[in-house]
Amino acid sequence: MRIAIIGTGYVGLVAGTCFADSGNDVTCVDIDERKIRMLQAGEVPIYEPGLEELIKKNVREKRLSFTRDLPEAVSNAHVVFIAVGTPEGESGDADLQYVLAAAEQIGKAMKQYTVVVDKSTVPVGTADKVRDAIRKVTSIEFDVVSNPEFLKEGAALDDFLKPDRVVIGVDSERGRKVMGELYAPFVRTENPVLFMDTRSAELTKYAANAMLATRISFMNDISALCEKVGADVDFVRKGLGSDKRIGYPFLFPGVGYGGSCFPKDVKALGATAREFGLELDLLRAVERTNERQKKLLVNKATKHFGGSLEGKKFGVWGLAFKPKTDDMREAPSIDVIEGLIGKGASVVAHDPVSTHTAKRVFGDRIRYASVPYEALEGVDALFVVTEWNEFRHPDFERMKSLMKAPVIFDGRNVFDPVRIRELGFTYYGIGRR
Ligand code: UDX
Repeated sequence: MRIAIIGTGYVGLVAGTCFADSGNDVTCVDIDERKIRMLQAGEVPIYEPGLEELIKKNVREKRLSFTRDLPEAVSNAHVVFIAVGTPEGESGDADLQYVLAAAEQIGKAMKQYTVVVDKSTVPVGTADKVRDAIRKVTSIEFDVVSNPEFLKEGAALDDFLKPDRVVIGVDSERGRKVMGELYAPFVRTENPVLFMDTRSAELTKYAANAMLATRISFMNDISALCEKVGADVDFVRKGLGSDKRIGYPFLFPGVGYGGSCFPKDVKALGATAREFGLELDLLRAVERTNERQKKLLVNKATKHFGGSLEGKKFGVWGLAFKPKTDDMREAPSIDVIEGLIGKGASVVAHDPVSTHTAKRVFGDRIRYASVPYEALEGVDALFVVTEWNEFRHPDFERMKSLMKAPVIFDGRNVFDPVRIRELGFTYYGIGRR
């Protein structure tokens, strides 16, 4: 099939590359000239394991190309994916201006029956708006499909190539057939394509992310209670996860959830509900807990240092919102670092891949260390904010010899509290004894 993907952000780039890799002829479109030039030169603007190689392979084999020419790409395509950004609007809802502008341009450019797919995360009712926007500018037949993405950054290729399920909202037999064929290479009986109406598909995406965020906030609440009553959240987590109805994933307490999806989607779902006259109290609580959680490490440190952090120097390990990505969007490290420097402390931070994105956030207000140990020299304490694998088994003796004081605030529970205290560290985890 010939496919056009509008928007070469995270979702568009991964989807386009994976569709090309299954034999389709894919053109990725973006208005950002710099990005398109980079991609044409074989450079990938984001860090995602395996993506660069897969892009290069499909470009070489001439199934994948990049352009700024939307009309050309759309006029040749059987299926057009809208994968442009949906930033947070003024009242917490998703801003649809880019999606609807893309829809109008697609409508003007298409020359034959086209399946137009909403791939961006969009609020309930967007497929109808996209349909109206296209209908206004063309008399050619088309279908609008809602096909939300469930990609986790850092594991996006696997999630796309071996999905738990593919959700497709579609209200025509013709559209359904095209989408079924497109996804056939990626699904099996136990990982099916779930066909439904467009509104249910749109809602599924938000509900999935809100439920995952709810699990995290719930565990963060439980971890706070663990600290109060003298329980250990690691035991509680395993005790909960072993119940098949609950399961193990997404039960890790920490410094709060971040990233481009959870914070935005929890807000947007609440905004959708309010638009329809419904207040979803649970979601407000999920957000409140997350805000509290992002401040937790700084509060613990302030208490440890007797109420003031003025003049202290701190090391931070981990800047990205989670491991295996260079994404800093809504990263809890921002709250931690802003909290520390806001209280008069200085920060030297290390992240295996996010220094360049962190520089856009903090500029020269903090120092950047190129290796983990460099972020420990003369510091009053270390903050672990992202659980990169390389932080899990450091040379503790070397750490101790570099630090001014052996104090660790472990926001991801990466270290074993018993062992680390035996080694002479003062250790603060999340919800642990
Ligand atoms: C998420 C969804 O998982 C994905 O399906 C959706 O399409 C996009 O949003 P992503 O934002 O890449 O993906 O990250 P994810 O791995 O889900 O983690 C989100 C945040 O939750 C991170 O900040 C992470 O550190 C945090 N988290 C995750 C926890 O604090 N505890 C956990 O147990 C799991």
